[in-house]
Amino acid sequence: MLTNLQQQPADALLALIKLHNADPRATKIDLGVGVYRTGQGDTPVFGAIKAAERKLVETQDSKAYLGPEGDMGFVSALAPYVFGKDNPTQDGRIEGMQTPGGTGSLRLALAMVKAAKVKRVWMGTPSWPNHAQICADLGLEMKTFNHAAADGTADMAALRSAMAEADEGDAFLLHGCCHNPTGIDYTNADWDEITDLLLANKLLPVLDLAYQGLGSGMEEDAYGIRRVVRAVPEALIAQSCDKNFGLYRDRTGALYMLVAEKDQLPMVVSNAHALARANWSQPPDHGAAAVRLVLEDADLTAQWLDELDTMRERMRQVRARLAAAGKTGGVDLTPLGSQHGLFSIIPFTPDQVQAMRSQHGIYFAGSGRINVAGLTMANIDQFIAAVADVTG
Ligand code: LMR
Repeated sequence: MLTNLQQQPADALLALIKLHNADPRATKIDLGVGVYRTGQGDTPVFGAIKAAERKLVETQDSKAYLGPEGDMGFVSALAPYVFGKDNPTQDGRIEGMQTPGGTGSLRLALAMVKAAKVKRVWMGTPSWPNHAQICADLGLEMKTFNHAAADGTADMAALRSAMAEADEGDAFLLHGCCHNPTGIDYTNADWDEITDLLLANKLLPVLDLAYQGLGSGMEEDAYGIRRVVRAVPEALIAQSCDKNFGLYRDRTGALYMLVAEKDQLPMVVSNAHALARANWSQPPDHGAAAVRLVLEDADLTAQWLDELDTMRERMRQVRARLAAAGKTGGVDLTPLGSQHGLFSIIPFTPDQVQAMRSQHGIYFAGSGRINVAGLTMANIDQFIAAVADVTG
């Protein structure tokens, strides 16, 4: 029976890891999958996480099951960072659960959307490829609209018409900050308008918050999520600690559910628990337990926020340097200076993407998305020269 299956291509983003590793050139540069790198090109474990892990080894006295919701101490400790310290549960209308990374959270959010018989999921494109892959795997109908306008801002006109065209109850999958892959975020004024449009058209927001803290700061990056959550009756929020705590392979995330009336919450949450049970039963514990220990300790929290500041500052410097290069060959790198997070898109043709790989050993997604954190002061001039060479 298994021969009835068809060969599948490797995931294009994850395949880049192997392509880069197999390249023998010492000067190769990896701008592929979204992991942060230091100025030395490493992705170290956060100091605050290392300290929490040591504590965990000493104090954890059991690894017995916790249930489909995972570590609820982690979920509550994280909530004020996502929803604000004043009223993180919105008067008992929000509850969360732990998930295997941001992907697990999105998978669960979209499975909830399907179970709730939502008709369609709308998303701005380009988007993170796994958004569409998860929708397709769940058999959800997808509708797209343009995300980035020609002037380098978010295409609000396209979003407005998509929201006007959508049916009541349709879901809108929106990136909370650090848009993947364009780095082009909604402004605070855009979020104000989006909130009004969601309300007026009775749409269900599904908010993907995978990069909080990597744009302008933990508080600043939460503006859109908080603005929407304070106004709408219902929302699903997919959070990830994989980047802002550097936990990538430990798969640490949370799904938060906002309902209109707090007495509906147990019923809604019971659906998420049942879906989690059928998908992965219970989430992996280690990363979430380490985050909880960081957030329960004021010194470790301060250390973590400090480490996050350092990451953001380094990416700001890289972006400033790219922007200063301005017109480079046939492309303009100026807009990269004002974009947010790990990613930006440079409008390379497919042939230019290949030439960057074969002639210069520089690896990034076929869409032209680069991970700016893969650039260092040691390799950035090489990168700019290569861009000039292949696009000139
Ligand atoms: C990325 O877009 O590179 C990251 O979100 C990692 C992933 O899982 O694709």
